[in-house]
This record gives sequence, C-alpha cells and structure tokens, in this order.
Amino acid sequence: MAMLEVKNLGISFGGLRAVNGFDIKIEKGELYGLIGPNGAGKTTVFNLLTGVYKPDTGSIVLDGTEITGKSTIEISKAGIARTFQNIRLFKDMSVLDNVKTGLHNKHEYSFLAGIFHTPAYQKVEKQMNEQAMELLRVFELEEEADTLASNLPYGKQRKLEIARAMATEPKLLLLDEPAAGMNPNETEALMDMIRFVRDHFNMTVLLIEHDMRLVSGICEELTVLNFGEVLAQGRTSDVLHNPQVITAYLGE
Ligand SMILES: Nc1ncnc2c1ncn2[C@@H]1O[C@H](COP(=O)(O)OP(=O)(O)OP(=O)(O)O)[C@@H](O)[C@H]1O
Ligand SMILES: [Mg+2]
Repeated sequence: MAMLEVKNLGISFGGLRAVNGFDIKIEKGELYGLIGPNGAGKTTVFNLLTGVYKPDTGSIVLDGTEITGKSTIEISKAGIARTFQNIRLFKDMSVLDNVKTGLHNKHEYSFLAGIFHTPAYQKVEKQMNEQAMELLRVFELEEEADTLASNLPYGKQRKLEIARAMATEPKLLLLDEPAAGMNPNETEALMDMIRFVRDHFNMTVLLIEHDMRLVSGICEELTVLNFGEVLAQGRTSDVLHNPQVITAYLGE
C-alpha cells in the first residue's frame, strides 16, 4: 500500500486555478521530489495535504486512511509533518524546547501533573529530554541545545525545523524548500542529512525544490508541476530526459 495516494486534487483562488487534477503516489520509505518554477503551485499542494486549504476536488489517502477535508490538527495526528518555506520556529525558546514542542503531541499527562511536577510528569519530562537530545544529535545540533532558536545561524534553524517535525514521529515528512537561503556547502550537508533521515527512520519524504539539480541528486521519483498541473512524473532519470520538461523547465 502506498504511503500517500492523491487523486485529482484541485483548488482555485478566485479566478486562479492554483492546482488542477493533481495526482501523486508515494511508496513507503521513498524520497520524492516536487519541483517546478515559482508560482507553479508546490506550496499550495502542501497546504492542501496538511489541511490548511480544503481542496475543491480530489482525494488524499495517507497509509490507507482517507484524510481529505480534515483539519490541520487531525492531519498532524494522522501522521503528516511539515516544514515551511519561511522558517517558523519558536524564536524565544531554546533549541531543545523547540524539538520538545513536537514531542508534546506524543506524550500526554494531566494538566495538574504538569503544574505540580508529580513523579509521573518528571518521568515523562526526562523521556522527552532524552528523545529530543537524540534528534538533536541526528541533526548535529546537540551542542546548541540550550541556545535560543533566534540565535542559531540560518542553516541550523532550517535543520531545527526538520528535527521538530520529526519529533512528532510522522509517517510522511513534507519539506518546503529546506535548502532555501543556504550556501552550497550547507545545502550539500542538508541533503546528506535528509537522506540519512530517510534511511535511518525509513521515513517517507516529499521534498519541494525549484532547483532541479538539487532534487535530482537525491530523489528517486519526481513530479514536475507547471501552472498548477503535472507536467511530468516518474523515475528521476526518465523525468530529466522528458522532452517537455527539458523545453519548459530546463530550457530557461
Ligand atoms: N491563499 C492564496 N490566495 C490567493 N492566491 C494564492 C494563495 N496561495 C497561493 N496562491 C497563488 O497560487 C499560485 C501557486 O502558489 P504557490 O505558493 O503554491 O507556488 P509555489 O510553486 O510554491 O511557488 P514558489 O516557488 O514561489 O514558492 C500562485 O499564483 C499564488 O499567487
Ligand atoms: Mg512555494
């Protein structure tokens, strides 16, 4: 069974058909790229998948469960986590606490236990610290655990966003241009890290990029979006040789 199966997804904003007839099928553990020029509809697809927008056509099935039209919270609980094109961190919280906000979705203790710091609360808190530190190690942020998120260099803020998304233990991780604003060395290191996350956690990842070279280096499958519609789709090597893609996208 596919981890994500989307059929005929569409949405209009006023007279603009931002996404139309969008289909995608992503297998478990796949590293999949969604590419296309500015304004193609990539972020809108993420907003539809995560319940920020309700589609006016189509269906979204996550790991066999229909999630079409559900709220952002329900979809997060169903197992989709995302990062945003513009970084959204809790800037006044430490790096560790930012990751722990993701873990809070998984651990439950009563409100009173939290206020009175009961032994049960302390145990959960300790577990959360350990889990959060483990994620920070994966993303090479453990030395900055106590640093305020706003004091991190830009590239590390981007990594922290991914660590926080991973803390929710998602089934599907959506990354919206995670390398935006990074220098070439940082970008390469980030791509290695994304590959590691996929391999280590057997995570299913859908990655938005507008730089074709970047995604073609790490993604097994690609969908090329243009003016809200799928221009090409399939194995990366096939898509890169697709004449339509070469003309419309690489011919710039
Ligand atoms: N809430 C909205 N209201 C009106 N128009 C919108 C809204 N969200 C997106 N759009 C429009 O939908 C189209 C697709 O936008 P989207 O942000 O999905 O593109 P994108 O492929 O992510 O582009 P970029 O590479 O610049 O991030 C654009 O024309 C955009 O202006
Ligand atoms: Mg976008």
